[in-house]
Order: sequence, then C-alpha cells, then structure tokens
Amino acid sequence: MIIAIDGPAAAGKGTLSRKIAETYGFHHLDTGLTYRAAAKALIDAGLPLDDEAVAGKMAREVELSGLDRDILSSHAIGEAASKIAVMPSVRRALVEAQRDFSRREPGTVLDGRDIGTVVCPDAGVKLYVTASPEVRARRRYDEILLRGGTADYEAVFADVKKRDERDMGRADSPLKPAEDAHLLDTSEMGIEAAFQAAKAIIDAAL
Ligand code: C5P
Repeated sequence: MIIAIDGPAAAGKGTLSRKIAETYGFHHLDTGLTYRAAAKALIDAGLPLDDEAVAGKMAREVELSGLDRDILSSHAIGEAASKIAVMPSVRRALVEAQRDFSRREPGTVLDGRDIGTVVCPDAGVKLYVTASPEVRARRRYDEILLRGGTADYEAVFADVKKRDERDMGRADSPLKPAEDAHLLDTSEMGIEAAFQAAKAIIDAAL
C-alpha cells in the first residue's frame, strides 16, 4: 500500500504525513528532504548550484537513511533545493531512490510535489493537500516565531509565492494534482480535521 501526498510548501503535508504513517504503521519518506540533502552536500562542498552534472552526481549519493530534518530545515537549504529540483538528472536520481523506498512493507507514505504524478503513479491513495498562499505564509511565519526566530510576514509571503512559481512552473515534474488525487484544502481546517478527512479517504481505499 502506497499513500502519495503532494502539495505546495507549508500546506501541512509534513505533519499530516507523519500522523498518517504513525496511525497505519507505515514507513514515511519526506521527499523534500532528499532534494535538501543533495543541495546541502553541494553547499558544504563549495560546489555551484547551477551545474547539472555536478548536482546529478551529488543526488546519486544521497542516502535515505541519513536524512535529518533538523540539519536540513534551513531556509537557505530549501531555496537551494528548489533550484536544483528543476534539473532532470537530479530528479531522475532521487526519484529512483524514492521508488525503491515506496516498495517497503507493510506500506509507505511519501510526501512531496510529484509523488502521485511521477514517483508513484499507481499509489493506492493520492492526496493533494493545499491551502491559500496567505494561510500558508501565516503558518510558516507563526512557526518561525514559535521557534524563537524573527520574521517579516510580507517577506515570508513573497517567499511562499516564489517557491510556488518555481515548483509549479518547471518543465520537469511540475507541482500539480494527479488526475485521481483527492483534494484537501486545509485553509480553514486545523490539523486534526485535516487528518480525519484524510483518514476517511484512506480507510475507504484499504
Ligand atoms: O518540501 P520541501 O520544502 O522540503 O522541499 C524543498 C524543495 O524540493 C521544494 O521547493 C521543491 O522544489 C523540491 N521538491 C521537489 N519534489 C519533491 C519534493 C521536493 O521538487 N517530491
């Protein structure tokens, strides 16, 4: 059983995916972390972010077992990840690793941008989780403040929109709902309501 969860940045996919994986006892892969790990490896090695051959090589060396959200969560790494994510050779390498992961037993939850469309087109359940850009920016802003950081809402909002444009506008595997995905708009839903809605969809497919 594969559960594919896609959607734009800060829509609540991460929290929802973890909760679903825990509930059903499935393995979970946040595929954004794979792009982040490749980007961090380039940055740490002082290598350019615009050389596809170099970035592709780094992507092939990403180990799924070594992905640590705390180390990969910075804004700079997210930006770099979204830049190299437009490169077909980077995507090919990471998608292969993600597909291998998706076959783990007894089941898997993968979240990202292209899981239902490209990585696992045969997934048993596909969810497309979204929320308005304003709501997503507000959530990200609150999260930064909660962690003791400082932020400017307008800057966070501009950033969310820029990331959307890059993810939805790229030629290779653009962010969009799969034709058979269930849409879940969490603009006016808390995490518990979103989880209950997702659970009802998954239970109907099991
Ligand atoms: O979700 P997260 O912010 O960690 O992802 C970082 C970047 O990696 C995204 O902005 C997107 O460009 C890219 N990504 C992708 N395909 C995925 C997951 C993430 O292109 N399946």
